[in-house]
Amino acid sequence: MRTTINQVQEMKRRGERIAMLTAYDYPSARFVEAAGVPMILVGDSLGMVVLGYSSTIPVTMDDMIHHVKAVVRGTQKSMVVADLPFLSYQASSDDAVRNAGRMLQEAGAQAVKLEGGEPMAATVRRLTQVGIPVQGHIGLTPQSANQFGGYRVQGKTASAAAQLVRDAEALQTAGAFSVVLEGVPAELAALITQRLTIPTIGIGAGPHCDGQVQVFHDMLGYYPDFTPRHAKQYAHLGDVIKQAVAGYIAEVAAGSFPATEHSTSMSAETMEALLAELATSES
Ligand code: KIV
Repeated sequence: MRTTINQVQEMKRRGERIAMLTAYDYPSARFVEAAGVPMILVGDSLGMVVLGYSSTIPVTMDDMIHHVKAVVRGTQKSMVVADLPFLSYQASSDDAVRNAGRMLQEAGAQAVKLEGGEPMAATVRRLTQVGIPVQGHIGLTPQSANQFGGYRVQGKTASAAAQLVRDAEALQTAGAFSVVLEGVPAELAALITQRLTIPTIGIGAGPHCDGQVQVFHDMLGYYPDFTPRHAKQYAHLGDVIKQAVAGYIAEVAAGSFPATEHSTSMSAETMEALLAELATSES
């Protein structure tokens, strides 16, 4: 049985902090679930950290479905939340239902995440009314980076912060089961967390959210281009990979790989018979 939205909400009521992490493929999903993460996000961040785009804007529904399916195949217990990519839900709530529905029906996710506050409330209501759990996402919403003029912390003035409070409350009223707060001041995240009954999940939003979410590649040192300020590196997989591959190249050059244990062999009699057969066929 996978983690349910009710269990995640119960964690907030009990004051238990929620660790959410992204995963994008079968092995990462298996490792993340085995470590005990209750909620896995297949984020559209995969556009950058897996596919090498410079933003999340080019990510399509087909890209997302492909990766969500792999994560679902690699998990049994974690809730899988599928990010709705740019333009898959903004043009109409019919688009939102169709595309969010694909994430559940075709890809096997248990919930979807979408970016936006008050203007998205009607869409969130429509999705939850047809039985699709929705996680909201406000603050620094990467799909709007062009509108923001870059990846900038949001809610820094009193009026911008008040709008984010209204956004969070509108999402909750519309039926969202949780809200991601990205790139907002810690004090504002604390205030929103205190005002909402649904869990807030922070990224670059300080320590007072009900939970945290991080990008797999950022926290493991597995993205070569940059590490965002909000990410803590718990490992340096890039260095491990470079070292391992250099070792492989050196052993291939030296002829010490493959060793006997990596090879299969033929008996001396079979080799003798083979040579005899070749000699006969060539004479
Ligand atoms: O796409 C993603 O990984 C996200 C998280 C950063 C919240 O939206």
